[in-house]
Amino acid sequence: MNILGIETSCDDTGIAILEIKGEKFPPETKIIANLVSSQVAVHRPWGGVVPSLAKREHQKHLLPLLKEALKQFGQFDKQKIILDKEQIAGLKNLFERNPQWGKEVLDFLQTSRPPKIDFIAVTQGPGLAPALWTGVIFAQALSFAWKIPLVPVNHLEAHILSCWLPQPNYSPQKPNYPLIALVVSGGHTQLILVKQLNHYQIIGETRDDAAGECFDKTARVLGLGYPGGPPIAQAAKKWQNISKSQRAKIPTAIQEIKLPRPMIYAKNWDFSFSGLKTAVFYLDQKLSPKIKESPFYSLKMADEIQKAINDVLVKKTMKAVQFYQAKGIVLGGGVSANQQLKERLQKECQQKGLSFFKPSLSYAMDNAAMIAFAAYFHQRESLSDRQVLQLQAEANLPF
Ligand code: KG4
Ligand code: ZN
Repeated sequence: MNILGIETSCDDTGIAILEIKGEKFPPETKIIANLVSSQVAVHRPWGGVVPSLAKREHQKHLLPLLKEALKQFGQFDKQKIILDKEQIAGLKNLFERNPQWGKEVLDFLQTSRPPKIDFIAVTQGPGLAPALWTGVIFAQALSFAWKIPLVPVNHLEAHILSCWLPQPNYSPQKPNYPLIALVVSGGHTQLILVKQLNHYQIIGETRDDAAGECFDKTARVLGLGYPGGPPIAQAAKKWQNISKSQRAKIPTAIQEIKLPRPMIYAKNWDFSFSGLKTAVFYLDQKLSPKIKESPFYSLKMADEIQKAINDVLVKKTMKAVQFYQAKGIVLGGGVSANQQLKERLQKECQQKGLSFFKPSLSYAMDNAAMIAFAAYFHQRESLSDRQVLQLQAEANLPF
């Protein structure tokens, strides 16, 4: 079964084509194409994702990425295609608010042979509404012109399932349920009870900023760049590599920097990271310019930020594991690229005899391969009665 995946929930435009077969879990999966166009450079000057710019960039990149994916699939063939009146009217209607983009898509559809795709999977939510809309309209247009069914996919579920996409030198095994999934990205921080495949329940989530957003915003205070996760992790590593004797020479005001661990002992599974961001901001204001001039200042701050975020994430995940008697942990989302977080969760799992599932780095960030992959299970379990979504889509999109 060949599936075309489309992902535009945030600031990455993703198009993928997967060939998947088999009844077992995980199924036999071949990644034919997995293309991502990152908008990081576009959003960098604003220190975060600007929805209107994200939409514009998705519109710019979807069609070129699709053409490239079809080339890799060996199915990008020029051919005159006659669409009937109803199809043309429907397509024009879809692109009513974006006629120029609509013209480009229509031109493509009238000059290219429909590929051998069994269905099209598109991210339905959660995400930024204008960004989601762009992918959904594009997917609807392809579905309409090619007469291929459309499968809406929940982005969080796709992040969870991304752990079972093929990984180099490692075959992820079928899990024992229940599992606790921690989905952490620039837009999400959720703890999800995975009762079994397609049965999810969100048990906790952030009440304000997402964990990735906290990395991004605190990195901005420290002037470390955007996105903030990777430079904070790198700076923290440098701090950890400083020898004891060297550390003794660093001003105590830096050595003693301590940040809060918001909601770490709260009797629920929710998170809150905006207080941590504010604490970093005020501490930065309070400390003298002389202290801040020290090259060790941002290293220590980065180390403490990373520790504070990971302390809360690990503690709450492990509490949920204990409470729900989970058999393992699934880590997903862009923050799953954080080495310290992976190592700490892995260690906890080893000590407690639990399984630990994480995506390979290439599928940790937003991508369309995970969208196509998630759709495979929905399609198999029958769309109408799937109980996918306790994980409800934030965006109310038409299908
Ligand atoms: O899943 P993702 O690509 O997009 C969203 O759905 O948001 O996640 C992006 C987020 C950013 O906030 C980025 O700072 C964070 O993932 N991130 C990391 C690391 N790499 C990316 N956070 C911590 N450590 C990392 N190594
Ligand atoms: Zn994501």
